Amino acid sequence: MKLFTAGPVACYPEVLEEMGRQMFSHRSEEYHRLHRDTVGRLKWFLNTGQRVFLFPSSSTGAMEASIRNCVKKKVLCVVAGEFGERYARVAEANGREVVVLQTELGKPALPERLDEELRKHPDVEAVTITYCETSLGLLNPLPELSEVVKEHGKLLLVDAVSAFGGVEFYPDELGLDVCFAGSQKCLGLPPGMAVVWVSEEAMARSRTMVNKGWYFDFERYERSQEKDETPVTPPIPLILALNRVLRMIEEKGKKRYFEEYRERAERILGGIRELGLNLFTEEEYTSPTIFCVNAPPHLSGLEIYRRMREKGVELAQGYGKLKERTFRIGNMGYITLGDIEEMFEKLAEVLRG
Ligand SMILES: Cc1ncc(COP(=O)(O)O)c(C=O)c1O
Repeated sequence: MKLFTAGPVACYPEVLEEMGRQMFSHRSEEYHRLHRDTVGRLKWFLNTGQRVFLFPSSSTGAMEASIRNCVKKKVLCVVAGEFGERYARVAEANGREVVVLQTELGKPALPERLDEELRKHPDVEAVTITYCETSLGLLNPLPELSEVVKEHGKLLLVDAVSAFGGVEFYPDELGLDVCFAGSQKCLGLPPGMAVVWVSEEAMARSRTMVNKGWYFDFERYERSQEKDETPVTPPIPLILALNRVLRMIEEKGKKRYFEEYRERAERILGGIRELGLNLFTEEEYTSPTIFCVNAPPHLSGLEIYRRMREKGVELAQGYGKLKERTFRIGNMGYITLGDIEEMFEKLAEVLRG
């Protein structure tokens, strides 16, 4: 099956090879070397001198950690779809008061609106933003939103799960405070691990936080990092695979790596247009990592998804209320230009009926 999913995505062959290696202890010299080298490569990839933690959980664990370490009482959550909504639910489930900035379906959060909300709620300590709202293929304008958050002196917690490794951005330059990603998206790894970047200010906040729990305490991660370790048993096969992907990116060059992502995105956008289809989101705010496409009048999104599966291609179904009206094409992980050509040939056949 060729995968154009929203994650888990197809893994690079080198990753699959790496995942089959024999284990070693997470307290051994082999692990220390691997940990040190992987964290160093992540810092290179993110162009940062700040701390980057390897988290033994899926991305939602990192989401919960950002709340527990950085928010005592109240947080403003920007909600543009399913994952923005999840951030708000996670904060509520952790007993925090949540103010929601809900955008119109398919529309991004705009800086003026965020400014307005922050003026109305000056007591929020942090703002959460989903950089790429995977459910809609929507890229929120993070640089502009970040400026507003910083003008109001709040912490900025960013879910970059489906942007990290597919959209070129640097957390220090953007003034973020916590930024996390999961393994099963653009980096082309299997699921089960997250990467969490934490600013000095977020770390300082964590140090003063009470009741932040044990498992996701940033201070604990920082102390372990000094020994090139994690506080709990890490997913070693995934870290080996992440290390391999980062080495592959280094060999290719970061510039070329992101160019290739853009080339693939352009090819997918071109293919959508050639078939006379259009996007659910405005092009200006469309993520290069996942595309939400309006289904044509004669065929539902769900039917397109099903028929493509019969032809050996897995796309992603539309989200929630949009299941019938849309379908999604992922551009994450191991996809070649040849795969894209093949996918569009099959999509053309499906649309012809
Ligand atoms: C933007 C975003 N945030 C969070 C998640 C949740 O990730 P996980 O299921 O790995 O916890 C996803 C998964 O699709 C996502 O796309």
